[in-house]
Amino acid sequence: MALVALRAGSKSLALIPTMGALHAGHIALVEEARRRADRVVATIFVNPLQFGVGEDLDRYPRQEEKDAGMLQRAGCDLLWLPQAQDMYPPGFATTVSVKGLSDRWDGEARPGHFDGVATVVAKLLCAVRPDIAVFGEKDFQQLAVIRRMTQDLQLGVEILGHPTIRDADGLALSSRNAYLSADERQKALALPQALNEAAAQIQSGTPVADSLAQAKERLTAAGFARIDYVALVNALTLEPLDRAGGPMRLIAAAVIGRTRLIDNIAVDL
Ligand code: PAJ
Repeated sequence: MALVALRAGSKSLALIPTMGALHAGHIALVEEARRRADRVVATIFVNPLQFGVGEDLDRYPRQEEKDAGMLQRAGCDLLWLPQAQDMYPPGFATTVSVKGLSDRWDGEARPGHFDGVATVVAKLLCAVRPDIAVFGEKDFQQLAVIRRMTQDLQLGVEILGHPTIRDADGLALSSRNAYLSADERQKALALPQALNEAAAQIQSGTPVADSLAQAKERLTAAGFARIDYVALVNALTLEPLDRAGGPMRLIAAAVIGRTRLIDNIAVDL
């Protein structure tokens, strides 16, 4: 198999798991991996286990040929496109579930989502056995869940978090941005703006609850149809904070039109 040959000829191997519809955020992970390891493997797998009933599994953007070209140009050595029947053959019965870190926020809004993520990432790591794997801070809770899972299962892989890549106007790149109309794309900017404003307020001593309430008001005023959460959390435990202190992260998830967007930023005092 191509992976065996790749591993045999390399000192270190990096893995970048993705669901495809690649953008500059994914490519930044590949470039980081290239700096850290001498061979880079990417996977594209739209993992059915991590989508809930009524979510966007069926319409998730797919563009494998374009993705393959982008990966090649970024210096990726091998692209693996697993098939659902190979990942989850009849009789597949194992779930990897990270308690605690998976419970709140996106875990609450999307029941079962992080079990699906942890299970597929565990499988991909076991199949590829990389030395390092790179994930984006864009999915901050996912990164925390994966760090915990690899530590708990002693998978012997170093998990690297990469800062969020944004468009020039501040919107975090996401494959799901492709769903946005021009009007929604414009309104979506309120998400990073609300987070930046709340962070500045918290830094200048405004009570956390007031800062979060104003951020939510701003999102509602911009036309977000639903706000799943805007919260200040401890960056390691993801437990909510009602006053500033320690390592902090502002996290948010909200729906514009039919599209659910997430974002987060660090808050330093
Ligand atoms: P996907 O959404 O395709 O993201 C793949 C990787 O790219 C993740 O580590 C994600 O955090 C990172 N990423 C996405 N947007 C980014 C941005 N704007 N800046 C930096 N990194 C970004 O996340 C998944 O797929 C899946 O849940 C997966 C981990 C592959 C498991 O199925």
